[in-house]
Amino acid sequence: TDAHTAGPFIAAIDQGTTSSRCIVFDKDGRIVAVDQKEHEQIFPKPGWVEHDAAEIWENVQEVVAGAVVKAGISAADVKAIGITNQRETTLLWDKNTGQPVHNAIVWQDTRTDALCKELGRNVGQDRFRRETGLPLASYFAGPKIRWLLDNVEGLREKAEAGDILFGTMDSWVIWNLTGGVNGGVHVTDVTNASRTLLMNLHKMAWDEKILHSMDIPAAVLPEIKSSAEVYGHAASGVLQGVPVASALGDQQAALFGQTCFSEGEAKSTYGTGTFMLMNTGEEPVNSYNGLLTTVGYQIGEQKPVYALEGSIAVTGSLVQWMRDQMGMIKTAAEIETLASSVEDNGGAYFVPAFSGLFAPYWRSDARGVIAGLTRYVTRAHIARAVLEATAWQTREITDAMTKDSGVELTALKVDGGMTSNNLLMQTLSDFLDAPVVRPMVAETTCLGAAYAAGLAVGFWSSTDELRANWRRAAEWTPRMDADTRDREYKSWLKAVERTMGWLE
Ligand code: G3P
Repeated sequence: TDAHTAGPFIAAIDQGTTSSRCIVFDKDGRIVAVDQKEHEQIFPKPGWVEHDAAEIWENVQEVVAGAVVKAGISAADVKAIGITNQRETTLLWDKNTGQPVHNAIVWQDTRTDALCKELGRNVGQDRFRRETGLPLASYFAGPKIRWLLDNVEGLREKAEAGDILFGTMDSWVIWNLTGGVNGGVHVTDVTNASRTLLMNLHKMAWDEKILHSMDIPAAVLPEIKSSAEVYGHAASGVLQGVPVASALGDQQAALFGQTCFSEGEAKSTYGTGTFMLMNTGEEPVNSYNGLLTTVGYQIGEQKPVYALEGSIAVTGSLVQWMRDQMGMIKTAAEIETLASSVEDNGGAYFVPAFSGLFAPYWRSDARGVIAGLTRYVTRAHIARAVLEATAWQTREITDAMTKDSGVELTALKVDGGMTSNNLLMQTLSDFLDAPVVRPMVAETTCLGAAYAAGLAVGFWSSTDELRANWRRAAEWTPRMDADTRDREYKSWLKAVERTMGWLE
């Protein structure tokens, strides 16, 4: 970081699955200061994951103050605040008290599995796909809202009376930031709304018929806005008076931060989970291979840009699980040292279907397996299988992308925490049989939110200007022979089959 960069600046808030952070960027898209804070992961039952939204809002305020202090700047130096967030995580709160009515239900949570099956009865998982671009799966927000309305006592009556607000984390942060009970604005952006199973992808509006089928009162829903416009101003805190000028789901923000502004450009972000998005231009492209059709971004009054997405629920969180639940490593970085101490996986395959399987399978009833075990297998082989799991899951997504889009993968732009793992990046290139490229600024999620906010207030003039900031930092090229790759892929797919049907 360089505290001496001349202003003005943009501040980006990333409310993520495991932490909240704030990064201050300068005009060249360079990082001036970062502050970050983790929040508690609450696991009340197998398959359930919750967050305390009040804790999250506290943390957001802390990291904003932290980053501004570290940068040695004040509100007058900051032209706009951009917001990005973990998507789908669902919160309902009381608009009169500002208090959450229940913990937020996290995107990884599978409690709505049975509800989704019920909603798909007679029609199947694709009941709302034409309107929303999504399969009926426990991942998305709509069924989580319905679960809360059905399970929190007295909530439905209050919601119908107009006293309850729904939001994903973008809405929660913006509402609080712009004043909360004292005039906070209740909005979301098109990218976040596209993950609810409630928005019509063609009209960018809540779909009345789906609301009716899911029995969700329209009164709880935020207003849908573009991803880059001024929604309101910070009402208090160190950035009081600064315009809040962007909101994008974190994966869409990373697409933006990687400057994937042309049709066919794609990125893959390696965090808690992994999400590959390909820009498909101004028309939504239907998937026939288990991908999602989603909104990429919309800049102000311009036409929305769509994307195809391959979502993987568990990648980085598998490494965390090895550390926290299994105690097999002390730090996340140790997984690489351990995995590098052996030549290969020793015959072991680890399919981390902890939240069911997302793309391309969409099976909430899947559960994790380690397959191929013999007495030969060591801790190190398992570590290797852990890393390979991320690479194989990516391969399944790129295969689906190629089938749906007809575009062959020539190189994969990557970002996110796990990309500092060299063995993983090499394995990824080997399994994909394509080069893997990482940019200078690996914090593409925050960068994308900053870019969108900066465009909204005229800090940057156009997406072309942003493209010029993208620089390659590292590249990995394939080294694996085709026979080995094909054989290993078959074994991986066999292990995947073993995960299905655990909840029957
Ligand atoms: O869809 C879930 C995704 O937005 C979560 O991303 O980086 O917070 O794990 P992350």
